[in-house]
Amino acid sequence: MRNTIAVMNTKGGVGKSTVVLALAETLSAFHGKNVLIVDSDSQASVSAMLMTTASLFKLQQDGQTIVDYLVRTVLHEETVEWPRFVVRDLSDVDDARSVYLIPSDMELTLLEREVSKGGHHGRLRGTIKGLIEAVRPVFDVVLIDCPPGLSVLTECWLREADFHLSPTKPDYVSVCGLEVFRRFKALNPEMGFAENIGTLISMKDKLSPSDEEYHRWLRDNAENRCFEQPVPRSNALQDAARFAPHQRSYAAKYPGEAGAAMKALAKEVLVRIAAGQASAPEKVETAKTSEVAE
Ligand SMILES: Nc1ncnc2c1ncn2[C@@H]1O[C@H](COP(=O)(O)OP(=O)(O)O)[C@@H](O)[C@H]1O
Ligand SMILES: [Mg+2]
Repeated sequence: MRNTIAVMNTKGGVGKSTVVLALAETLSAFHGKNVLIVDSDSQASVSAMLMTTASLFKLQQDGQTIVDYLVRTVLHEETVEWPRFVVRDLSDVDDARSVYLIPSDMELTLLEREVSKGGHHGRLRGTIKGLIEAVRPVFDVVLIDCPPGLSVLTECWLREADFHLSPTKPDYVSVCGLEVFRRFKALNPEMGFAENIGTLISMKDKLSPSDEEYHRWLRDNAENRCFEQPVPRSNALQDAARFAPHQRSYAAKYPGEAGAAMKALAKEVLVRIAAGQASAPEKVETAKTSEVAE
C-alpha cells in the first residue's frame, strides 16, 4: 500500500503543520484510520500541537524523538526498534484516538550538520528508506511534516516517500516556492522522487479577490494537481495549533467551515491515495500498530 506522504513546501508559514494535524485528526475521527505523523521539523510544531509542553519536553529528555532514532541508527550505526519512538494517546480531539507520532527536537539541525560533515548521506537515506518501508504496512496513512527549505533529511523523505503534498498559500511568494520545488524535483531523476499527490491551497481568505485569482491560476496548471477543497483562513484553524488540556469534540475544535473543509479534504486525499495504488509495488506486512511502544 503506497500511503506515505511528505508534506512539503520550500516556504515556511504556509500552514503545513496545521494541515498535517487537522488531516490526521479528521482521518482518525471520521474514517477510523491509523495515522502516523513523523515530525521532521526541528521546530517540533506538530509535536507541540498534539500534547502538552511538559509531555513533549519529557519525550525529548528521554531520547524518544526522531533525532534520537537517527543519531543512533545513522551516526552510531546501532540497530534500534522504530516502534519504541512512536507515541500514542495524543490529540485533544476525543474521537481522534488513532493518531500516532514520532516527535521532533531542536537538535535535528545538529544531526543534519553531523550527517553532512561526516558524509553520512547514504546512510541517512538508507535509514529513511528502511523506516518508510517499516511503517508503510503498519499504518493506514503516514504524514511526514517537513520543515521549510530543502535540507538533507527533507530530500531523503522526498525521495523515499510514496507521495508529496504541497500546502501553498495563494500568494506570489508561495507560488515561487512551488516553482523552486518543481526545479528541485527535476534534478537527479535517477535518484527517485515521490509522486505529487496534490497542491493544497491553504489559508485562503474567502473575501480576498487576490487569493481567488492566485487560486484559479494554480488550479489552471494541471501539473499542480490542486485539490478541489482549499483550507480556509479561519480562527478555528489558527487556534487548532494550541493543544487544549481537556479533550473536546471534533466539532468544538473544527467548527463550521473549518471542519467541513477538512472533512472534504480528507475524502479527497483518500481517493487520491487509492488512485495512486496503480503503480504500487506490493509490500509485505511485517508488523501491526499494536506493536508500537506504550
Ligand atoms: N488555515 C489557517 N487559518 C488561519 N491561521 C492558520 C491556518 N493555518 C495555519 N495558521 C496559522 O499560521 C501559522 C503558521 O502555520 P503552520 O501550520 O505552523 O505553518 P508551517 O508549518 O507551514 O510553518 C500558525 O500560527 C498557525 O496557527
Ligand atoms: Mg511547520
